[in-house]
Amino acid sequence: MCGIVAYCGAPPAVPRLLSGLKRLEYRGYDSVGVGLLHRPDDRLCVHRAAGRLTDLVAALPNSGLEAVTTGIGHTRWATHGQPTAANAHPHQDCTQMIAVVHNGTIDNADEVTDWLDARGHKIATEVDTELIAHLIEEHLLEACDPLRASPVTTTEGPADRVAGPAALERLVAAVAGAVEHLRGSWALAVAMDGVPGIVLARHRSPLLLGVTRTALMAASDALGLGPHVEDVRELRDGDVVALAPNRQVSWYDRGGRAVAPPDPLRLSVRHVDAELGGALDYTSKEIAGQPAAAARILDTVAGRLVGGRLLDDLGLPSTLPVHLLACGSSAYAAAVTARLLTQFAGLRTRVMTASERIASPSDGDVLTVAFSQSGETADVLACLQDGRRGPWLAITNNPGSTLARRCDAVFDIQCGPELAVAATKSFTTQVLAGAALALALSTSRSRRDILAWERVLLAVPDRLAATDALAAPIAAELASTFAGQPGWIFISRGAGVPYAQEGALKLKELAYRWTEALPAGELKHGPIALVTSGVPVVAVTAMPTQRLAVNLREVAARGAQVITVGGRIPDAVLPAVLPAREPPWGPLESVVALQHLAREVAVELGHDVDRPRNLAKSVTVE
Ligand code: AGP
Ligand code: GLU
Repeated sequence: MCGIVAYCGAPPAVPRLLSGLKRLEYRGYDSVGVGLLHRPDDRLCVHRAAGRLTDLVAALPNSGLEAVTTGIGHTRWATHGQPTAANAHPHQDCTQMIAVVHNGTIDNADEVTDWLDARGHKIATEVDTELIAHLIEEHLLEACDPLRASPVTTTEGPADRVAGPAALERLVAAVAGAVEHLRGSWALAVAMDGVPGIVLARHRSPLLLGVTRTALMAASDALGLGPHVEDVRELRDGDVVALAPNRQVSWYDRGGRAVAPPDPLRLSVRHVDAELGGALDYTSKEIAGQPAAAARILDTVAGRLVGGRLLDDLGLPSTLPVHLLACGSSAYAAAVTARLLTQFAGLRTRVMTASERIASPSDGDVLTVAFSQSGETADVLACLQDGRRGPWLAITNNPGSTLARRCDAVFDIQCGPELAVAATKSFTTQVLAGAALALALSTSRSRRDILAWERVLLAVPDRLAATDALAAPIAAELASTFAGQPGWIFISRGAGVPYAQEGALKLKELAYRWTEALPAGELKHGPIALVTSGVPVVAVTAMPTQRLAVNLREVAARGAQVITVGGRIPDAVLPAVLPAREPPWGPLESVVALQHLAREVAVELGHDVDRPRNLAKSVTVE
């Protein structure tokens, strides 16, 4: 999703900006743009494109870019207005002298639009970000003429009035004034024609500043800063920061008063391995990478589950009720963990959908476990910001993320870069992290019991590998038979339900098929009305209970095509290698088979499986 990169320092700035944007591409976006200041007099040029970064590069001029010393760049995931070149960032004011890139959303956009309309501003797009450019313009004009009553004109722009050595400071004051009108979330980078430098601001959307030997870099994600950054600081809510070309950084608060900078961060940013290595796409590479990823995380927990050593090492208590929060696939991993914590460890738990942000009604402290592979999901970060009672643990693949930095402890799932938008190995490893955590928290269970399940857990990588080999060719056959079906139903029982839900989500995301996912017993309470001849019903199960068998007969009687997923059903259609006794974390291995099924249907339908429409890897707006 949206990404910001800014550069200020020794030329050439453009390659640095483009490589920063390239590193943020994995987050998913729909359009891209840059605002560049050219030497010698900091003339501003803005370039935008719908589509990919390569479309922007094709639209850039062939010459003159070597004179660029400073620039701001953005990958947009549209929230207000269509994903067109005209709506891509940077957005500009009436005079086209100010350029703004923005991550986040402005909640009071309608109100601000009315106010700006009344002040004579000409608003060209529906994008909330454009309003920020006009507000900055308004504040620059007001600073020159506090009694200004007349509307703005396009001939007398704010740059005429702020030229000179104090230009950057005046832009800081205007940005600080502009954001006072806003409600919502924003990370901003602002450049202005004739003004040497960049101004940054943030409120509820991450923004980092890094210093290299020759320049200042800012980015909304640590990966965007690039490899040569030495000192990294994260803007606090309300900070407004001026970056000058001589690498001087000035920090201000929301009132425009000078403040001390925040402490530097120790970041662990991982190198992104973008090689396909013979795989057809990143999705299949990442599905196949699950046994290795699982082995990596299990290596880190082996021998630390009995007696709760894992908890001690994380510095967390083992006695508190547990709240789990997440979105999407991560929420299904949280659901698996919550079930284990309740049914196996006997703890009080509550699973919360982070995007719902329901305030916790608990009386005392709780241990809150936030599952987020990216660690940048705005809905999850918003919960953290809204209030915290007791310690927070992040289960994430990004130990340099905003979530990891803000939590008290981090459980790194270390599954390696996941470049396909849909979660695969991050889901599997989150489940393993959750299962390990739950076993470590099962203080009421005997040592023998924990050790027995630990052994079953440690054998997951082999079962994932065996499932991968068995399921892939059968999923391809099923896809060629069923790809044309517009609606699919996924069912399971008990611990299998979150896996059925994850399988259904994968099919939605990759193949754009309507899916229902529910506990099998719920079918007869309504959704069975959807079952007609040929409708695929995918049943995820480790143990073929009689009740499930009855449910399958009910749908088969109405013409459904039943696809059983698992190892122990006599005629399992899609095989998954599961343990002999169902573990308390349920039929995890079945997910590999479901991932193959979703991918194969998508391939059959001709979709780009790595970059599904409308989706983003890192969902950075609430
Ligand atoms: C997974 O395939 C999805 N694209 C999505 O549901 C994702 O799991 C969700 O947005 C949460 O992301 P996070 O784990 O980075 O917080
Ligand atoms: N709300 C802005 C828009 O629609 C920013 C979205 C983003 O964060 O990419 O363009």
